[in-house]
Amino acid sequence: MGEVELFLPAASSEAVSTDGKLLGLIVISGLITLLVASLIGIFAVRYRRGSKATRKRLPTWFSKDIETVWTLATAGLFVAIFAWAASQDFALAVPPARSTQIHVVGKQWMWKVEHSGGQREINELHVPAGETIELVLNSQDVIHSFYVPAFRLKQDVVPGHTQHMRFNPTEIGTYHLFCAEYCGTQHSAMIGRVVVMSKEDYADWLTRQPEGDDLQEDGRRLFVSKGCAGCHYGSSKVRAPRLAGVYGSSVPLADGQVVTADDQYIRDSILQPRRDIVAGFEPIMPSFAGALTEGELVSLTAYIRSLAVDETAR
Ligand code: CUA
Repeated sequence: MGEVELFLPAASSEAVSTDGKLLGLIVISGLITLLVASLIGIFAVRYRRGSKATRKRLPTWFSKDIETVWTLATAGLFVAIFAWAASQDFALAVPPARSTQIHVVGKQWMWKVEHSGGQREINELHVPAGETIELVLNSQDVIHSFYVPAFRLKQDVVPGHTQHMRFNPTEIGTYHLFCAEYCGTQHSAMIGRVVVMSKEDYADWLTRQPEGDDLQEDGRRLFVSKGCAGCHYGSSKVRAPRLAGVYGSSVPLADGQVVTADDQYIRDSILQPRRDIVAGFEPIMPSFAGALTEGELVSLTAYIRSLAVDETAR
């Protein structure tokens, strides 16, 4: 950090593969440029005015064949490059078996980070090296874009949507974090740093953070204080869907669709409860849009997720 660098550090395995793609494209374009330039040179000399080179007309089938060959060859090359690049992007879209989940909320004009143990930071993100990190990104107001050049990754964060960003940090160090989407007057100040630490240092760092409630506990308290418990607890008189075990399950809706209860579904159900009505229930839940901050939504979702495994919390 600090001085101007011609080559950015490649601090994640995604950065290495992205650099590989860039290098591959430069080599391929370089070779083609070299071929075309040398042919121009050779022909210019060979067929210059006054040279004795034969200018016999070639049969038409020859030029037709050569045209077909290079059209197919370049088309094939493009498809191969596309398949190569796409396979790496698809690999990133697959949820990993095991990952460290960290929640990030973008708001004018800062990045708020919450670790699953409740540790919070602003405009800083501490991650352990050698593990798959999964960022769960939300925006509280406008479109922001989470951009870490050293990881070669950039993800737009759109209000109302939950985005996921996965990476494997490899190099220990401190790297720039930017907002890469113009989001208002202080957009240029919405910067921070990503600190990649060894696993031991990261564990140590986590324990040194001020005690905060973990997300789950925070969510459990909100569940009661915001009145969710009044209808969604087993003992309540109002008929509302029980939430134990709902996370990750298939939910049949009144309109015949079946959806999977993931983060986005939980979030939509809180903010737009009349959109996806669970089969057999009345649309009586009020919307909580505006009543909850992004951080509170994250905590509530973490609590509801915990109910999937922890049956005693019913
Ligand atoms: Cu947030 Cu630009």
